[in-house]
Amino acid sequence: MPTPTLHDAPSPAPADTPRTATPRHYLMCRPDHFTVAYRINPWMDPAVPTDTGLAVRQWQTLHDTYLELGHEVELIDQLPALPDMVYTANGGFVIGGIAYGARFTHEQRAAEGPAFMEWFGERGYRVIDPANTNEGEGDFLLVGERILAGTGFRSDTGSHAEVAALFGREVVSLTLVNPSYYHLDTAISVLDPLTDDAGANIAYLPSAFDEPSRATLERLYPQAIVVSEEDASVLGLNSISDGLNVVIATRATGFERQLRERGYNPIGVDLSELLLGGGGVKCCTLELRR
Ligand code: ARG
Repeated sequence: MPTPTLHDAPSPAPADTPRTATPRHYLMCRPDHFTVAYRINPWMDPAVPTDTGLAVRQWQTLHDTYLELGHEVELIDQLPALPDMVYTANGGFVIGGIAYGARFTHEQRAAEGPAFMEWFGERGYRVIDPANTNEGEGDFLLVGERILAGTGFRSDTGSHAEVAALFGREVVSLTLVNPSYYHLDTAISVLDPLTDDAGANIAYLPSAFDEPSRATLERLYPQAIVVSEEDASVLGLNSISDGLNVVIATRATGFERQLRERGYNPIGVDLSELLLGGGGVKCCTLELRR
């Protein structure tokens, strides 16, 4: 893996940059039936035992953290045959009351697509049954007005075009190259999701992307936080920001420091058990934009 080149970024915004939190609305799924029964990413090993009770307790801490921050959390029931359903980020991509449904790459998760679409439909979202393979917010990230879209392992570029047409927004396709960072939300963290493009910023791991995608990210986000391989390898980038508070993996200590330097308030949560399925904070959280 070539060493990522650090571009000449303008000096980062100092810690006294005013950051504002906006209340968010999330969909989560308590991992009542969590286990690792198959392997569809390098993090998963069915031979390693899982502790469902511990997964639930860790998940509860994340859930309660959102409530303490003043966010609204809705729940979908986990279906017993779908152990990965806890990773609600993959259930769709929702903007302005329109829910673009998921169509999973792997057979093991296929039934999650209709389950999430049914949930959206029952709650009055306009549901779009997707024509292309895509894993929702795992690969689609709204940054300001623009959508960053991942491909390479899961979502295909047909879904990127579908999303661009559906939401009438600029969609930038980025190609992932490291199987450990198979979803875009494992390689990029959106820090200021609601601000305009002038202020919206991200954090990312350059080596997770192919060369053209790296160049694109350097051009679009010259002030981005570039995280270490070490922090990325505990899924530190798989985090949730409300513009001020950034909920991250406790073990991503370098990223925590970088966030503080930029005036964010990092909050560590330990999801070690859910990491056995290859997911972290962001994977367990789907943003519902009404
Ligand atoms: N075991 C799940 C899978 O491989 C983990 C999904 C993680 N979700 C995410 N948004 N990155 O599909």
